[in-house]
Amino acid sequence: MNDFNKRMEEESRKKFGDRPVVFGDGRLNAEIMLIGEAPGGEEEKQGRPFVGKAGKNLDEFLEIVGLDRGDIYISNVCKLRPFKLSPKTGKPINRAPNREELDFFVPLLHEEIKIVRPKLIVTLGNFALNYVLMDKSVTIGQCHGQLIERDDMKIFPLYHPASVIYDRAKGPVYIEDLHRLKEIL
Ligand code: URA
Repeated sequence: MNDFNKRMEEESRKKFGDRPVVFGDGRLNAEIMLIGEAPGGEEEKQGRPFVGKAGKNLDEFLEIVGLDRGDIYISNVCKLRPFKLSPKTGKPINRAPNREELDFFVPLLHEEIKIVRPKLIVTLGNFALNYVLMDKSVTIGQCHGQLIERDDMKIFPLYHPASVIYDRAKGPVYIEDLHRLKEIL
């Protein structure tokens, strides 16, 4: 993983300058790999995925499923914080990863999956689902909470924890999906 991260950092620096790369984090050869969309401001600051507020959501998730952060491997589709400057405050705010970032990071994500070789990939949100499957026609609304077997991967798609906070109606469905994941594990 060190060689992989080093190469990713070097290539990212050539293309995107000194924007900090937030590497995947956790146990190598973990049986479960969690994949989110992209790091936010706090992740960029601390250099780890899913920390700060997103980390708190993740801890709740792990508690329900009965897992420890140390048992799993956590990563993102895009490893740089996608940001733009707020027209109101002039400060950086999050945006979705753009085409250039995706063209660069998606092949690396698939390399990373091959290195970790998890038994199960849990995707968080539509974005991670689409780019793990390499299929934009699949939506999280259709297949959350259902095990998908594709090529040699087993994928369990979940809503992104952040989207559950914004859309309270998804809460009970999300909890149900987490219990189903616990059964599968
Ligand atoms: N933090 C991450 O690292 N990834 C997300 O998808 C959201 C917050």
